[in-house]
Amino acid sequence: MGKILEVKKLKVSYHTYAGEVQSVRGISFDLNENETLAVVGESGCGKSVTAKSIMRLIQTPPGEIKQGSEILFNGKDILKMQDEELRKLRGGQISMIFQDPMTSLNPTMKIGKQIAESIMIHRGLNAKDAFAEAVKMLETVNIPNSDKRANQYPHQFSGGMRQRAMIAIALACDPKILIADEPTTALDVTIQAQIMDLMKDLQDKLGTAIILITHDLGIVASVAHRIQVMYSGLIIERGKTEEIFKNPQHPYTWGLLLSVPRLDAVNKDVLYSLNGTPPDLLKPPVGCPFAARCEYAMAICNESMPEETKLSETHSVSCWLQHPMAPKVKSPLNVGGAE
Ligand SMILES: Nc1ncnc2c1ncn2[C@@H]1O[C@H](COP(=O)(O)OP(=O)(O)OP(=O)(O)O)[C@@H](O)[C@H]1O
Ligand SMILES: [Mg+2]
Repeated sequence: MGKILEVKKLKVSYHTYAGEVQSVRGISFDLNENETLAVVGESGCGKSVTAKSIMRLIQTPPGEIKQGSEILFNGKDILKMQDEELRKLRGGQISMIFQDPMTSLNPTMKIGKQIAESIMIHRGLNAKDAFAEAVKMLETVNIPNSDKRANQYPHQFSGGMRQRAMIAIALACDPKILIADEPTTALDVTIQAQIMDLMKDLQDKLGTAIILITHDLGIVASVAHRIQVMYSGLIIERGKTEEIFKNPQHPYTWGLLLSVPRLDAVNKDVLYSLNGTPPDLLKPPVGCPFAARCEYAMAICNESMPEETKLSETHSVSCWLQHPMAPKVKSPLNVGGAE
């Protein structure tokens, strides 16, 4: 599998009246062809800023992508692209879908026409052929009676159908990468599962590489090949999906996993919730950013940032508990854990 996207030392800040908010603090990761990478973490950890950086949608000012950051798409630095190249990239090569489809759908235009426009611009089809293609796209995303639905407006669609329509628009130009930023957050659980199934099907069918952004580790289990966990602008653990679920090593990942409702849980109503809040990104701590909330924190955790420890070819974690001198801690989950 070739690398289609390489993010290197990405650093993004926002300049505010209160000072410089360090939203993303030097993260590096790759996306392979035909793979779904999930980016998971609590609100404010830098997921959307990362996604927007890839699309070059960071508004400057107040935002700033720092010198030294690189985002290579097929080896070419997106951060150095000129307007014309960027336009092609955004419409034709990388597509993004957002949490709330109503902000991206045009309420005054029929759904079929919205999809057709994207097809006309990016694939050069005439209006009639593009519309026929749009109807096909609606079918692909499992919208029944697609020829009739194509002639309806967004307000005539349910929330789940709008999100499917958004996916159809995003895929209409046959992108190499689809970035889905919390594509199901506004939907109920059953519809969420359906949209996830759809993403999986589409990837099997079309082979699009997907970056799936969510705060909910639970919904990515069946869809993602790899998962990276973000915390306060950093990637603190990453691995194949089974490595993250079966052998998580960061106490923050444990917390996220404990917050996922489990079918085998003794008491299904009581869910674990992480205490405390992430650090202020105006003044990130010098040590591990999770230390203040971590029940296993040692003195060193507040003093210095842990290095990324490699646990396998694909799995790594940034935590002082990996240090050979650190006490052996048992994961609170009924799975592997640090032992
Ligand atoms: N326009 C902005 N001005 C100032 N700060 C911003 C701006 N946009 C984002 N930030 C800050 O950057 C950090 C990362 O934000 P980001 O939107 O990437 O979070 P997120 O992980 O997507 O969260 P959520 O799950 O809530 O969508 C946050 O601390 C946020 O306050
Ligand atoms: Mg976000």
